[in-house]
Amino acid sequence: MTWLDSIQMVSANEIAVITKAVIPVAGLGTRFMPVTRSVPKALLPVLNIPLIQYAVDDAVEAGITDIAIVEDTKSVGSYFHSMPDLEERFRQGGRDELADQMVEISSKARITSIKQLEPLGLGHAILLAKNFIADEPFVVILPDEILWGDHSSTAQILDVRDRYGGNVIAVTETSWDDVHTKGIVAGPSVEPNVIAIEEMVEKPKRQDAPSNLAIIGRYALEPSVFDFLSQQRRGAGGEIQLTDAIIECMDDLPTHAVTVDAARYDAGVPEGMFGASLHQAAKDPIMRQMIVDFAAQL
Ligand code: G1P
Repeated sequence: MTWLDSIQMVSANEIAVITKAVIPVAGLGTRFMPVTRSVPKALLPVLNIPLIQYAVDDAVEAGITDIAIVEDTKSVGSYFHSMPDLEERFRQGGRDELADQMVEISSKARITSIKQLEPLGLGHAILLAKNFIADEPFVVILPDEILWGDHSSTAQILDVRDRYGGNVIAVTETSWDDVHTKGIVAGPSVEPNVIAIEEMVEKPKRQDAPSNLAIIGRYALEPSVFDFLSQQRRGAGGEIQLTDAIIECMDDLPTHAVTVDAARYDAGVPEGMFGASLHQAAKDPIMRQMIVDFAAQL
């Protein structure tokens, strides 16, 4: 009998609170060459805020206090270091607001850097955080996926986890032309915007995809996922895939997908970053007018 045969809502007090997150950021950033020759993709900005800060904010809003950034030789974690000299300089120049912003950035959460020096895939990046996680449930956030809503997308999946336990993943409907670039899930609906996952596959061919519901970079996971990641089996693209480890856990754990309520931008590609920049710019009256004037000229 699998868990699906005996679905039960789990009472909230049986579920351990999640306080740790893993944010993997290693990778060549090929689609952002040449800037990514020296600047890590996670430090590319939407206007003046880098992707990594949006990911950390998504986590912190969901109650996360400890974050491991898994990075390659380019340092992303140092973005969150305290910079007392800079702060002092801003204060002396009467720029207290900017100085306060510097302090706020370095006190968001406890940030740990973990090095991933071999490009063996997302599953491998998460495996490297095993000691940091130390047998607790945790969240994974992929900063390439910008999700902006009234509530953090991580908080939205944790809310569903409070009710069902097990592993919970954020998804969205994607174009059928894109299913071969994503993890895809399918299963019966258990409440509005929540499905119990029965099928899950990493980067399927269009004709093999069980749906067009794509995984979009927010995961709440039980530590048993490490049992499977430790086997380091290669999946799609010859990489160690997080999706495959979650599939392996499905016999023993409830596994749900949540269609999160958020505007989504794929910051893995320049046009997604451009869309995200427009989204933010439109909130500022001056930049909004610039967009309107420019569109009129076009
Ligand atoms: C990863 C995951 C995939 C997910 C995607 C979201 O793929 O493996 O399941 O849909 O992130 O962006 P990647 O884009 O790293 O190849």
